[in-house]
Amino acid sequence: MYSTIKNICCIGAGYVGGPTMTVMASKCPDLNFHVVDINKERIKAWNNEDLSKLPIFEPGLKEIIASTRNKNLFFSNKVKNAIESSDIIFISVNTPTKTKGLGAGKSSDLKWVEASAREVARFSKGHTIVVEKSTLPVRTAEVIQNILNSVDFNSSKNDKSFSVLSNPEFLSEGKAIEDLENPDRVLIGGEDKSAMSLLSQIYESWVPKEKILFTNIWSSELAKLTSNAFLAQRVSSINSISAICEVTGANIREVSRAIGKDSRIGSKFLDSGPGFGGSCFKKDILNLVYLAEYFGLEEVAKFWEEVININNWHQKRITKIVVKKLFGTISQKKIVILGFAFKANTNDTRESAAIRICKDLIEEGAELVIHDPKVNPQQIEIDLGMKQFSEIKNENIDNSNNNCGSWTFSKNLNIFDNAHAVLVLTEWEDYKNIEWVHVEKKMARPSWLFDSRSIVDVDLVKKSGINLWSLGDGSLKNETNDF
Ligand code: NAD
Ligand code: UGA
Repeated sequence: MYSTIKNICCIGAGYVGGPTMTVMASKCPDLNFHVVDINKERIKAWNNEDLSKLPIFEPGLKEIIASTRNKNLFFSNKVKNAIESSDIIFISVNTPTKTKGLGAGKSSDLKWVEASAREVARFSKGHTIVVEKSTLPVRTAEVIQNILNSVDFNSSKNDKSFSVLSNPEFLSEGKAIEDLENPDRVLIGGEDKSAMSLLSQIYESWVPKEKILFTNIWSSELAKLTSNAFLAQRVSSINSISAICEVTGANIREVSRAIGKDSRIGSKFLDSGPGFGGSCFKKDILNLVYLAEYFGLEEVAKFWEEVININNWHQKRITKIVVKKLFGTISQKKIVILGFAFKANTNDTRESAAIRICKDLIEEGAELVIHDPKVNPQQIEIDLGMKQFSEIKNENIDNSNNNCGSWTFSKNLNIFDNAHAVLVLTEWEDYKNIEWVHVEKKMARPSWLFDSRSIVDVDLVKKSGINLWSLGDGSLKNETNDF
């Protein structure tokens, strides 16, 4: 087994680094895992005694943290110390889309990866296996290898050597622990067979050998981008069909069920919704588009770009429907927003459809009351680029000449009084059991419920008297409530 190694380091304590190392620590109790980050607040939160205050919410995470933290799992800001003592170093830092310079808007910004590689080059000792865990453009391993080989280490240069491997992460948020404990596959790309075998042995502590795939390093990097592009493409495909359902009388759930039974298509990832969000789908497709353009493959680039274009169009489409159903104006109308996270079971809001939709509704003059069980109002303020109404009032800012709407946050669901509409944006369990009959009595009339996740019981809503629009349900089209 991997008896030659003792310490493993992960640079980056985010949505990937944190849960990944936590699960590894629980499966390999004889190894020490050091998760390091430059963000002091984040590390402080990972070390919080109160496990409900960890920096990220994932079902099952806090239970494993409780049994591993400060035993063989350590969170700290001591990047240098962790690198010095480690035999394997995972790089799991953020790789967002570049906002300026060459490739802006499409290619990944690799400055955090480069900084990490430089730290590894400076502080590592002896032979170190450097593992790309972040999602990276194809051929980044070459860049990392160049940095590792070219940094001036002075006299200690000869003591250092490196093997670079690609080991992309396929976990999805909200079920990260489940995905890590029972992955569909583990992908290891590289050239150094003994380094690949060592990394494989760690995974073999809990992953069946036949699920561990070996490829060359470029296939591994490209497979990660392709996997996300295919998944996002499915969501855009089903969302585009939802629009056809609404005008033809078909029902998207029925269509999904029917096509999903074809074993060549499969039933997963066919839920229509308000448009895909999350930190990776858009970024990784843009990366693929950039790669195709770089190599002169314009048609390939256009094909994948369309997956994002449809997603943007779809999000706008939802706002337009809300405005249209509410008699063409939502100015000063109270709209309850159920859910702000990009999907259920996470506190992550990155690229959430709720951001675009809420911004558009506020621009139309709506007064939003936003509820989410895990997202905090400070994050919503950052995402919307706007303070809560109560804070604007406290600071005595004159908003009267501004046609723009407002938002407030509520921790509970006592928020339906005088609301003109309710818009479901995240599929949290809490929203599936709302008693619409009681809600109707509190709302302004005619009241509307817009369900972009198709999670409410259509019959119960109909019985309550609330007008219902449910994404992709064409059967609601011809009823009296259609404007
Ligand atoms: P994140 O932003 O949550 O975390 C990245 C962390 O890296 C941050 O805490 C940041 O402070 C830290 N960091 C940046 N530079 C550093 C440095 N030089 N030294 C130490 N720490 C540094 O990002 P994430 O969601 O964990 O994603 C990380 C990577 O994994 C990305 O490439 C992403 O595409 C990929 N990925 C993400 C997911 C997901 O579900 N979020 C899934 C699979 C793959
Ligand atoms: C996605 C992939 O599923 C992971 O395999 C990958 O590791 C990860 O990206 C990454 O590289 O970051 P994640 O973004 O966490 O994971 O969540 P998903 O479950 O894929 O959902 C993405 C978005 O698509 C969400 O907004 C979700 O609501 C939406 N979605 C998903 C649908 O609208 N319908 C579906 O059927 C599935």
